[in-house]
Amino acid sequence: MHLLITAGPTHEAIDPVRFISNRSSGKMGFALAEAAIAAGHEVTLIAGPVQLPTPEGVTRIDVTSAADMFDAVERTLNDHPIGCAILCAAVADFTPATTAGQKIKKTGKDKMTIELVPTKDILGSMRDPLGFNGTLVGFAAETTDVLTYASDKLTRKRCDFIVANDVSQPGIGFDSNDNAVTVLGKDGSQWSASGSKRDLATRVIATVAG
Ligand code: C5P
Repeated sequence: MHLLITAGPTHEAIDPVRFISNRSSGKMGFALAEAAIAAGHEVTLIAGPVQLPTPEGVTRIDVTSAADMFDAVERTLNDHPIGCAILCAAVADFTPATTAGQKIKKTGKDKMTIELVPTKDILGSMRDPLGFNGTLVGFAAETTDVLTYASDKLTRKRCDFIVANDVSQPGIGFDSNDNAVTVLGKDGSQWSASGSKRDLATRVIATVAG
């Protein structure tokens, strides 16, 4: 099967030297890509700005912003028969309404406001308008009511599976080598496990693309 996997954060430019982003390291998405290759699948990995080597055998497309990531996902769906899409990236929900062409100066300002507008929800666009009919897997990184938000996301974004993790716990989740996840299926199936992102990735791939 050919898998599309998104990973890492996005950078939303304020001016040529500044951006808005988040703490995602990309480690979980890269571990999923590696596990999928190990299971004999083909992988196109669409990565935001991260400091990680490309796992062997993976086709990698580097992107910067949420808009770039949307375009790369759309192109990949058009170019390949994708059987399973795992959207693991921590895509920015908002982006600056305008990007300044030159570095913004602080001179003469005692306050500064940046207007933000919503980005396009890639996961929420997969079924419609992107027309993806394969197995759709979303991630839900939450700090409160993890399972409530995750099961809501499962139905609202028409996913087959949601991988939920509590990013409020120290030592797991963002920028860590370990994670603790609960995988919810639209058929009502559910399992939870904690451990290295590599081991969890193997189990997630077996569940969603086994
Ligand atoms: O709604 P929320 O952003 O918490 O959903 C998280 C899930 O949605 C993740 O799978 C993430 O990759 C995806 N997402 C996306 N495009 C966005 C925002 C989130 O694909 N603009």
